[in-house]
Amino acid sequence: MPAFTASAPGKIILFGEHAVVYGQPAIAVPLTQVRARAVVTANIPAGQTGADQQDSSPSGFSAVILDAPDISLRTTLADLPANHPLATAILSVFEALHVVKPPSCTVRIRSTIPLASGLGSGAAVSVAVIRALSAFLGRPLPLEQVSALAFEVEKIYHGTPSGIDNSVVTFNKPVFYQRGQPVEILKLPAAFHILVADSGQSSPTAAVVGDVRRRWQAYPPAYEALFAAIGDLVRHARQHIESGSPHSLGPLMFQNHALLSQLGVSSPQLDALVDAARDSGALGAKLSGGGRGGAMLALVQEQDAQRVAEALQSHGAASVIRTTVGRASKQ
Ligand code: MEV
Repeated sequence: MPAFTASAPGKIILFGEHAVVYGQPAIAVPLTQVRARAVVTANIPAGQTGADQQDSSPSGFSAVILDAPDISLRTTLADLPANHPLATAILSVFEALHVVKPPSCTVRIRSTIPLASGLGSGAAVSVAVIRALSAFLGRPLPLEQVSALAFEVEKIYHGTPSGIDNSVVTFNKPVFYQRGQPVEILKLPAAFHILVADSGQSSPTAAVVGDVRRRWQAYPPAYEALFAAIGDLVRHARQHIESGSPHSLGPLMFQNHALLSQLGVSSPQLDALVDAARDSGALGAKLSGGGRGGAMLALVQEQDAQRVAEALQSHGAASVIRTTVGRASKQ
């Protein structure tokens, strides 16, 4: 029987996380070095051939097996709570395609994207599952709809997501994203080099986003001023990116990190990594994603990448990924 496979990359937010939840723009790019992959195959009961399968497959959600060895999950759709992110992703496809009696199948999910690290693991898993399952059902969904369904799953992970993660991961392109506006795909005339360091502290985005919301509710003008300052940086960064002068992004990254610290979403470990990047010659650095742990980025010149990566490792980074954004990348 054929296997229907789809994969989706991780992501990094270059500028604008958190403020994007409140209507400011943000810029994100896919991180193609890490990926989530879903494979959907029909279940063939013992003693049957593939040709028999359709007539005699069991009906109902118990016929849909989920196999996600990276999180030690092997179960059926019937045994998962309906608000589990994987169940929501699968059920949303059945609903979109008006599938009343799902065919007996196995959805196998593997991912190399670290969990709770700001690299878009949840969105990538959702997008891979939605694409592979809709292809298995014979009706691959258009990207806009994939992104919209993944957004519904993001609500379970994030509470009040902006929609940037599902957008960048679905379109697999650099995006300028603002809530309520069409997703803009950015052209990057000049390539630039980014190191992505994992602070080693896991930090679920929903908790941090919820905390920022409580602070904003307590002191709206102070937080709105910070969101607006981040939005200005993002628009400024876009000009540098599109005019082919990405090295000018460095100071904006440091400023964005300082504003995120004021929002209360940095951590001593992230601050130490940003300082280590600065001291070892990075052009810019900031936390990326939800914060309080997870990932940080350093913008580097190619000849400095090794030195900065070593500095990040010696200051506690659990891993460092090198990626090229723009013209020379495989996006
Ligand atoms: C998470 O990758 C980025 C946040 O801005 C949340 C969101 O936009 O949904 C922290």
